[in-house]
Amino acid sequence: MASCRFTVFALVVLSTYSLAQFGASRKLKSSPFESALDMLQNQIGYTFKNIGYLRRAMTHSSFSQENNKALSILGSNVIDTSVSMYYLGKDIEISSKDLNRWISENAKVDTSCAVDGMRLGLNRVVRVSPKTNSTAPTVVCSAFRAIFGAIAIDTRKVDDAGSVFWNVHCSEVGRVMDM
Ligand SMILES: *[C@@H]1O[C@H](CO)[C@@H](O)[C@H](O)[C@H]1NC(C)=O
Repeated sequence: MASCRFTVFALVVLSTYSLAQFGASRKLKSSPFESALDMLQNQIGYTFKNIGYLRRAMTHSSFSQENNKALSILGSNVIDTSVSMYYLGKDIEISSKDLNRWISENAKVDTSCAVDGMRLGLNRVVRVSPKTNSTAPTVVCSAFRAIFGAIAIDTRKVDDAGSVFWNVHCSEVGRVMDM
């Protein structure tokens, strides 16, 4: 009896959910989240062929199983690669110690990716569960890194994602290199 009532309940929940989904997909273009994605594409100077990748990049693991965790791993590798390309390109004699220092500088949560991510206002874009603080540096960072993973997958090229990273990050690097 109890399990039967549960089934009915589950069916009602499921159909309400699908109706909500149907409604959501019909007015997808006009939702605040979709407008935020449009604005974000303008800010980073890259338009996605498949906006689904950016949508996923802006979805924290607390919000959905379809989230940015794996994309942010790729994004983190894209950033490490483009930082290495940049410093080795500038100076082929750079020591491994210095190169590693630059890589870890650029990978730092509090001073690098959370700063870049906040500058893009990702805390106001990324979807999180109601209990999750979207301004937390780790949340902002995973969203920021995931953008570059998403671009790499969208173009199937790491280079393109790296270029967008430098465009977004360059004022910050200018500041660091002036010191
Ligand atoms: C959310 O996180 C930010 C950054 O860590 C912090 O300043 C803010 O107080 C937090 N907000 C809440 C409601 O916990």
